[in-house]
Order: sequence, then C-alpha cells, then structure tokens
Amino acid sequence: MLIREATPADWPAIWPFLREIVAAGETYSWDRDTDEDRARALWFKPAPGRTFVAVDEDGTVLGTAESHPNQAGGGAHVANAGFMVDPRHSGRGVARALCAHVLDRARADGYRAMQFNAVVETNDRAVALWESLGFEILATVPEAFHHPHKGYVGLHIMHRGL
Ligand SMILES: CC(C)(COP(=O)(O)OP(=O)(O)OC[C@H]1O[C@@H](n2cnc3c(N)ncnc32)[C@H](O)[C@@H]1OP(=O)(O)O)[C@@H](O)C(=O)NCCC(=O)NCCS
Repeated sequence: MLIREATPADWPAIWPFLREIVAAGETYSWDRDTDEDRARALWFKPAPGRTFVAVDEDGTVLGTAESHPNQAGGGAHVANAGFMVDPRHSGRGVARALCAHVLDRARADGYRAMQFNAVVETNDRAVALWESLGFEILATVPEAFHHPHKGYVGLHIMHRGL
C-alpha cells in the first residue's frame, strides 16, 4: 500500500465510496444527500489543507484522508482530520496507515496536536483505532448525533499531542 497526496484525478475513484459512507449517515455529520460538488469541496480543502489517498499496487484507491487546521488564527496550530476507507477494502489496515501518515505529515507541517471534533460514539472501529494511535476522549457531547438506527448518540472529542 502506498500513501500519497491526492490529486483532482483521484476524485472519481473516491466519490463512489465517500458517497456511500455519507449516505449511510452513521459516521459523519454531513447531510446524507451531500452532492458531488459540495463533497469534493469539503474533502479537497484549500491549503494548508491536505488530501491523501491510500492505493494498492495497481493504483486502486483503497481509502482517503484529509487534514486541515481545526480552527483559524490562534487555534491554527491544532490539526483536524477525516478518514474514509472503501468498505470493500476495510479491515486490512488502510485507516491505520492513513492516520499514521497524516500524523507524521501534521507534525512535519508544525502542528502541535490533532483533534477530532465529532467521532460518533457508536463507531466502535474508529474509536478503538484512534485510541490505539494515541488519541484520548476528552469529552463526549451527549446525544449530539442522530444515528439512523441507534437514535441520539454522543459525539466524542478526541485529541492527541504531536
Ligand atoms: C473507520 C474506518 C476509517 C476504519 O478503516 P479500516 O481501514 O477498515 O481500519 P483498519 O483496518 O486500519 O483498522 C481497523 C481496526 O479496528 C479494529 N476493529 C475492527 N472492527 C472493530 C470493532 N467492531 N470494534 C473495535 N475495533 C474493531 C480492527 O481490529 C483494526 O485494529 P487492528 O489494526 O489493531 O487490527 C472505516 O471503517 C470507514 O471509513 N468508516 C466510515 C467512515 C468513518 O467512520 N470514518 C472515521 C470517522 S471518525
């Protein structure tokens, strides 16, 4: 698996699984019917935002990540990041590799910490993965996310220094 910066040419490979994940409404607090132009703008943020893809030997896109300052001005030294892995390639370490890469890149870019603002508490796989990569749950905002099957559930704020 290779992790590299994404280019606009990667978008057609990203959009089908990103749309599937967003439409499911279980892990991201985006509108479930987010259209392609809006999704591309959210995923390819302007610099200093960065977007990455994980690809296999054939160049198939397995997953993607993006990172950007969590806040502007005095809060810009804390990074935020998002991750989506094609469900057809889940469970083989793609997100773990993407997150390790994003953490290294954020450190090299001079960020001092990384914060996730809205990790759905029922997203067991993601929560366990982020904890194993050094993130801790600072707080859980109660009933902040309306899960399509589980009802109102909490959103974790997760953080780690770099
Ligand atoms: C969450 C997501 C990014 C994980 O991607 P992935 O490539 O399948 O994850 P990985 O294979 O790198 O790692 C999954 C880890 O979770 C563990 N895991 C799998 N199922 C689990 C479960 N039900 N509960 C706890 N841990 C679980 C695996 O054992 C693995 O840990 P390991 O590396 O120690 O073996 C992916 O499922 C996804 O894109 N989900 C939808 C979007 C999303 O939730 N993004 C994150 C928002 S915070």
